[in-house]
Amino acid sequence: MKIGKYEIKHPIIQGGMGVGISWDKLAGTVSLEGGLGVISAVGTGYYKENKDLSIKMRREKPVDVMNFYNKDALKKIIDNARKICGDAPLACNILYACNDYGRIVEDACEAGIDIIITGAGIPTNMPEFTKNYPDVALIPIVSSARALKLICKKWKRYNKLPDAVIVEGPLSGGHQGFSYEQCFQEEFQLENIVPPVIEEAKNWGNPPIIAAGGIWDKNDIDKYLNMGCAGVQMATRFIGTFECDADVNMKNVLIQAKSEDIKLMKSPVGLPARGVQTNLQKSMLEGTAPKVVCISNCVAPCHRGVEAKAVGYCIADRLGAAYQGDVETGLFFTGSNGYKIDKIITVHELMEKLIKGE
Ligand SMILES: Cc1cc2nc3c(=O)[nH]c(=O)nc-3n(C[C@H](O)[C@H](O)[C@H](O)COP(=O)(O)O)c2cc1C
Repeated sequence: MKIGKYEIKHPIIQGGMGVGISWDKLAGTVSLEGGLGVISAVGTGYYKENKDLSIKMRREKPVDVMNFYNKDALKKIIDNARKICGDAPLACNILYACNDYGRIVEDACEAGIDIIITGAGIPTNMPEFTKNYPDVALIPIVSSARALKLICKKWKRYNKLPDAVIVEGPLSGGHQGFSYEQCFQEEFQLENIVPPVIEEAKNWGNPPIIAAGGIWDKNDIDKYLNMGCAGVQMATRFIGTFECDADVNMKNVLIQAKSEDIKLMKSPVGLPARGVQTNLQKSMLEGTAPKVVCISNCVAPCHRGVEAKAVGYCIADRLGAAYQGDVETGLFFTGSNGYKIDKIITVHELMEKLIKGE
């Protein structure tokens, strides 16, 4: 699979997973194994190797945007991933909803990232922040042909077209590009939204199209390659690896989860989000959930905690707690296939299974 000037050996992108699920070990190892490893830029202030960086914390949470999306910590994560994968292509996932989106894109470019992937919003000005880095390839995540058309029209002013496009359907983990109702409707399922995006892309330089959301094994991968996709993005299955940067408690939450425990919930980002129902949801119903106080000022749509108070939890704090292994108050995102993880394997073993079939 070719993305911009980068050749990726296997047509598999490991999806970015915020607040410590896909950092140096996971992304570095996936790139080493010939897939595209994706570091998440979200919540780098929580990175466990930050001890020597002066990151301002309050109640074990990074304070405000500059600490939550910490530049030095992101650089450290990228450097550490490079120690694993060398010169292999390496990507960074940066949500459009992040406060300081542009600054974070620039930080990632400065730290030597090859590819930037952005979803959770329509990144109409993404190329603005990569002007000084012409080799950095740009990949927007879309959920419709209409969104792709809008992005390409807006990018004309930068004389830039997407280097690849990820189409994400409603079985994916974390935030969805759909309303709650749409997530269950046939017309929005991945196999139905991919063909119109492939058609639309033909008007915009025919970039590689990558399918994401609910892809589990080689059969699924082949299905989308046969449909005309250049590759797939998979996230949930990579949580079941030793190299995944998440705490072992998160991996166990998934191993123990049953299909009916995985649900869509409201999020302060303003989009439905898929995760495992754990003690957090129970405590919200009982009125014993952690009090919402905005410390990290993480995403623009939350308006400094206004939305968090409305939905009953702070997304930065709860994902941070999950990274720290706190099963009582953590928020555990997963795709709809998360219950299929039954044991932890290496990234090498997983890549072999995905490429060769079981
Ligand atoms: C734990 C978790 C965290 C995620 N965090 C992000 C994120 O920060 N940014 C993003 O664009 N997508 C995020 N996603 C979505 C994935 O990158 C991916 O596109 C999607 O989950 C693919 O579906 P799958 O998990 O069924 O393979 C997350 C998914 C999971 C499971």
